[in-house]
Amino acid sequence: MSNKEAWGSRVGLILAMAGNAVGLGNFLRFPVQAVQNGGGAFIIPYLVSFLLMGIPLLWVEWAMGRFGGRYGDHSTPFILDNMTKKKLWKYFGVFGIFTNIGVMAYYTYIESWTLTYTIRSLKGDFLGMDLASVGQVFDKYVDISGGVNFPVLALGAFVITLVINIYILSKGLSGGIEKVAKIAMPILILFGAFLAIMAITMGSTGRCVDCDSHIGLNFLWEPDYSSLKNPMVWLAAAGQIFFTLSVGMGTIQCYSSYVKQKDDIALNAMSAGWMNGFVEIVLGASVVIPIAVGYLGLDWVKENAGFDMAFKTMPYLFDQWGSVLAIIAGVAWFGLLFFAGITSSLAMGTPWMGFVQDEFNWSRKKASWTLGVILFVLALPTIFFYEYGVFEEYDYWTGTVSLVVFALAEVILFAWVFGMDKGWNEITHASDMNVPKIYRPIIKYVTPVFILIIFLASLVKPEGGDWAAAFAGNWKLDKGSIIGNIMHIGVDSSWTTSGKLTKTFFIDMSRLLLLATFAALALMVGHAAKLRNLRKKENDK
Ligand code: TRP
Ligand code: TRP
Repeated sequence: MSNKEAWGSRVGLILAMAGNAVGLGNFLRFPVQAVQNGGGAFIIPYLVSFLLMGIPLLWVEWAMGRFGGRYGDHSTPFILDNMTKKKLWKYFGVFGIFTNIGVMAYYTYIESWTLTYTIRSLKGDFLGMDLASVGQVFDKYVDISGGVNFPVLALGAFVITLVINIYILSKGLSGGIEKVAKIAMPILILFGAFLAIMAITMGSTGRCVDCDSHIGLNFLWEPDYSSLKNPMVWLAAAGQIFFTLSVGMGTIQCYSSYVKQKDDIALNAMSAGWMNGFVEIVLGASVVIPIAVGYLGLDWVKENAGFDMAFKTMPYLFDQWGSVLAIIAGVAWFGLLFFAGITSSLAMGTPWMGFVQDEFNWSRKKASWTLGVILFVLALPTIFFYEYGVFEEYDYWTGTVSLVVFALAEVILFAWVFGMDKGWNEITHASDMNVPKIYRPIIKYVTPVFILIIFLASLVKPEGGDWAAAFAGNWKLDKGSIIGNIMHIGVDSSWTTSGKLTKTFFIDMSRLLLLATFAALALMVGHAAKLRNLRKKENDK
């Protein structure tokens, strides 16, 4: 085995794991999801999903990872393979590499926006601009016919961001990722706390005349029990838990496979998981929404909530605080996003690294630069055809659907194939905390059923989320259901109209590309299995 990576210290490991979880999802995705799903209505399903699905999956994945490390396996295909006698499971493990590569492609692109916006804020580019002009800066940035900005700036910033990631990955776990996490995480929390305080006090200090950040906070925090009956809110909440904790992706298993066998995982998992929760619901909820609602009103925010909102509004809103504070807040906000992003994208790079180092004896350098080339190729369509929805398509399949499928498979494998007795031993072995016993039946029954329901509901979501009508016999699939998506329900499915390529064409092509990526990874896994058999025969002789 060529793979000699290891974590340097416990603090480093926890910060790296928290860095993996804390990402753009905490600051951009969470607030938008919360607003779109009724604010306080979102919070209870979110917390329930955290307790019944998030925490169990954290323990399961950390346990699988350390288990894999015992046999020198650092990526999900062969971690799964080792947990069972059936040969097919390793192909489920392909998800644990595929998801990371697919997400990393578009995630690094968003990360590059945060880098450009940090520099622009520092230069004072946004000073004195009105709201519409700030919005246009973004629109021109991603528009391929945008002239000035495209493609040089968008592509250039992306390549620089990608190269930074690849370079750090090539320095290894303790020499690269851990060092970055130790610097980035404290700065991120500092910037986040600064912005949250600025947001909460903006009315009382008179920085914002006649506006009240508390309206936004109240909207996010006042629980609304009626939402408990709304399956759409549950789907969104569970989806957010998946994305923000980085569960169902194979990243945690990979990080955890480098933990020493005598070291705790149970408390580590909780530390990283709760730190992510704190950053999300305390810091993440206290910046964009309260500030935007304060100035623009709740209705405007509800209307315009989208993940690009932070880019299109914040520079303008900070400008209302005067130019000095505008520059400081702008750098803090986009800098925070960049740090949050990079500690997550680095994590996404590691399953591939572990896989090719383990199986094909590749050096760290070779592993990281090939990853760079793959990501560059996969990201190009999301950059050039951003407006055709390619970006969203990647996010949907690799950042939403895959996670649920893989999490369902792994929790069944863990609790039912590997077995709950062995599984519980793995979780509690060397642990520095008492893992509540109630989690044993939860992992065995509740979590798999929970995820299964989430999956089935996403598969056949009825039109407009009208479950009552669906159960009464009128089941029309929503265009956002998984099946509806595959079949292009409600959209024109032709590839050309009057000689021009349609959005559907670009979407189908991105699906093909993602499928081909999955297939290529599966072939590599098959090949690796053959090599393992050959090596075993050699040793048996
Ligand atoms: N949890 C990260 C966020 O909140 C995203 C993330 C980290 C991720 N690692 C991942 C997504 C691996 C997919 C795959 O932004
Ligand atoms: N696509 C989601 C939306 O439209 C938001 C989103 C998904 C997102 N993945 C993300 C935002 C990653 C930031 C980072 O609301």
